Amino acid sequence: MLEELERLEAGARDELARAGSTAELEAWRVKYLGKKSTLTGALRSLASLSPEERRTVGARANALKDALQSSYAEKQETLSLSSIDKSLLSASVDVTLPGRPTPCGRLHPITQVFQEICAVFARMGFQVIEGPEVERDYYNFEALNIPQDHPARDMFATLWLDTEQDRDARLLRTHTSPMQVRLMEKHKPPLRFIVPGRTYRYEATDATHDWMFHQVEGLAVDTDITLRDLKETLFEFCRGIFGRDTGARFRCDYFPFVEPGGEVAIECFQCKGAGCRLCKGSGWLEILGCGMVHPNVLSRCGIDPTVYSGFAFGMGVERITILRHGVDDIRHFYSGDFRFLRQF
Ligand code: PHE
Repeated sequence: MLEELERLEAGARDELARAGSTAELEAWRVKYLGKKSTLTGALRSLASLSPEERRTVGARANALKDALQSSYAEKQETLSLSSIDKSLLSASVDVTLPGRPTPCGRLHPITQVFQEICAVFARMGFQVIEGPEVERDYYNFEALNIPQDHPARDMFATLWLDTEQDRDARLLRTHTSPMQVRLMEKHKPPLRFIVPGRTYRYEATDATHDWMFHQVEGLAVDTDITLRDLKETLFEFCRGIFGRDTGARFRCDYFPFVEPGGEVAIECFQCKGAGCRLCKGSGWLEILGCGMVHPNVLSRCGIDPTVYSGFAFGMGVERITILRHGVDDIRHFYSGDFRFLRQF
């Protein structure tokens, strides 16, 4: 009887080791620990043995039953663990793999400079507003003190949308200045606005000219605005955009809608004022036109020039970007060439 149990154990352990799935393990349990198993049978038949044999065989059989039961439990655990392992393995991520970079876009250089310019003026209390790109002759010229046949129209080569050229004729705005008129028509002073936007000119393109470009217009109207306010506002702008160490200069210039009119130039950063090719030997780079709003323009907009005064300015955003980053051709901006755009 003891030998039989011995053999039984050897066979059971052998088969248990080979059981590779829960189904096989269950078959093993039925065979070795089930109600009809040899071991259960042996335990049942203990009663028919002599008391002597019953003690030894009984102890052995019970010990074997306990041993097989705990081996069964162990096996059950390893099988269920390894099945979890497998499912984990197939669903897992190899965190040691290098990541796949997602291509990330960026703002166009002109948009970036737009935002910087707007931020500098916003700090000084200017509101940002946009206006229409398709304008009427009236707003682009006439209300700005440039009537039909005025020679100053030659300053603005115009893309017309209508063949009939009267004050209602539509055109692509040649500057953002028409917004001065629209703002003064709509808002009572005090007012402080800047207008970023797209402008157009009927021009042959070359390294420094494009038929489409961007401007930022500025306008401030109040009871006691002076030329000094204009200068300090624009010098503060230059410091904000070009740095505190870059010199800025104010000189007189002519625009029909301002009196007096001026221009602001910054010290050439390539030669620091000594004179080079970038600044055409002058040491200065012109960046904007400006002036005190002409009384004719104020009164046309219903603002009494004896009570109110204002200043206005307009700057080319491409020009400022070109100067800041040393871009050699304005046409790069809209060529859609990533090699160029990625640099900003
Ligand atoms: N609108 C002018 C231009 O294009 C610039 C300007 C704006 C000048 C406002 C004076 C005042 O070129």
